[in-house]
Amino acid sequence: MSSQRQHPWFARSYVRLSQIAEKSGAAAHRKQVLAGLSGKVIEIGAGNGLNFKHYPDTVTEVLAVEPDDVLRTHAETAARNSAVPILVVAGHADALPADADSFDAAVASLVLCSVPDPASALAGLRRVLRPGGELRFYEHVRSGHRWFGRAEDLIDPIWSRVAGGCHPNRDTLVTIRTAGFEVSEVEQISFGLQHVLGRATKV
Ligand SMILES: C[S@@+](CC[C@H](N)C(=O)[O-])C[C@H]1O[C@@H](n2cnc3c(N)ncnc32)[C@H](O)[C@@H]1O
Repeated sequence: MSSQRQHPWFARSYVRLSQIAEKSGAAAHRKQVLAGLSGKVIEIGAGNGLNFKHYPDTVTEVLAVEPDDVLRTHAETAARNSAVPILVVAGHADALPADADSFDAAVASLVLCSVPDPASALAGLRRVLRPGGELRFYEHVRSGHRWFGRAEDLIDPIWSRVAGGCHPNRDTLVTIRTAGFEVSEVEQISFGLQHVLGRATKV
């Protein structure tokens, strides 16, 4: 099944640029955000599968949902080389191909910036998480610095066009809380853009 939202130029650029970011610190952030996970995990917008090698062996299976055909092909290759069983499927965060309450944990990394409607994506994740299930997040967010934040607002219309629908100025932590998650840990990371890395529980 191919999905409607395709950004082939961005996808090919992301495959190249994300490798540079990995070496500059993103790989360590991915490892940190996935540490200690166990059981059944769902990952939305898995991209080219850069998280896959960081899943601990206490994870029994991962359902990785990725709408973009180019990125999904790379994710399928990464899944074949993963120590943990990973099924990569086409789909969108707001229409997840999964039953309610069927996952122990959910992962959103660098994706709530890009989904068309973050509240709807988080509602989708909340639906498939079991009661008390955990959301792990690693996301870039609007800068808390007055002028940087304003600059992100100004650049947003162009940025989202060239970066596959990504928005640099979303207040994702507020959206996570509003969606019915209790944030139990959060680390603010300055990594080019302002990032938040942490965990939240379905309440
Ligand atoms: C910047 S990339 C990040 C990829 C990956 N999560 C990572 O950590 O490297 C943004 C991702 O969001 C995905 N995406 C965009 N809209 C989506 C949606 N509605 N549902 C799920 N994923 C979506 C894109 O296809 C892309 O894989």
